[in-house]
Amino acid sequence: MRIALASDHAGFDLRQAVAAHLASLGHDVLDLGPAEKARCDYPDFAAKVAGAVVGGETELGILCCGTGVGMSMAANKVHGARAAVVSDCFSASATRQHNNANILCLGERVVGIGAALLIVDAFLGADFEGGRHAGRVQKIMDLEG
Ligand code: RB5
Repeated sequence: MRIALASDHAGFDLRQAVAAHLASLGHDVLDLGPAEKARCDYPDFAAKVAGAVVGGETELGILCCGTGVGMSMAANKVHGARAAVVSDCFSASATRQHNNANILCLGERVVGIGAALLIVDAFLGADFEGGRHAGRVQKIMDLEG
C-alpha cells in the first residue's frame, strides 16, 4: 500500500520508526518530511499528507506530532480528509471500519513507539465496513459543505 507520512519536530522520532516499520512490511512510503528535527509548524505537514491522500497520490496517510491532536485538527480542514487521532488499537481498527478514516494521527508524547507500531498495524489491517456506516460517513462529509 502507498502511504503518505509526515511529522513535526515533536513527532520526528516516531515518524522514523513508523517509516522503517512500514518499509519492513513492504509498504511504499511517501515521506513528506521534515528532513530535520528543527522546530516547525505541524499544520504545514498535515496539509502535505492530507493533500496526498485526498488527491489520490496515496491510499492512506499517517501524521505524527506531540499529541496527534494538532495534526488531526489541521488535516481535517482539508476537504475529503478524515483524520483520526488514536492512542489504542481498538480505536485504530474501529476508525477504519466505522469512520472510513484515511489518515492516522499519532502522538509521540502520548504513546510509546512499540504501542504506536501496533496501532499502525491495527489501522492498516482494518477496512471500511460500509453498510450502516456509509450514510453516517457521508453525513460527516456533508458537513464540509
Ligand atoms: C509541538 O510542541 C506540539 O504542540 C505539537 O507537536 C502537537 O502536539 C500539537 O498538537
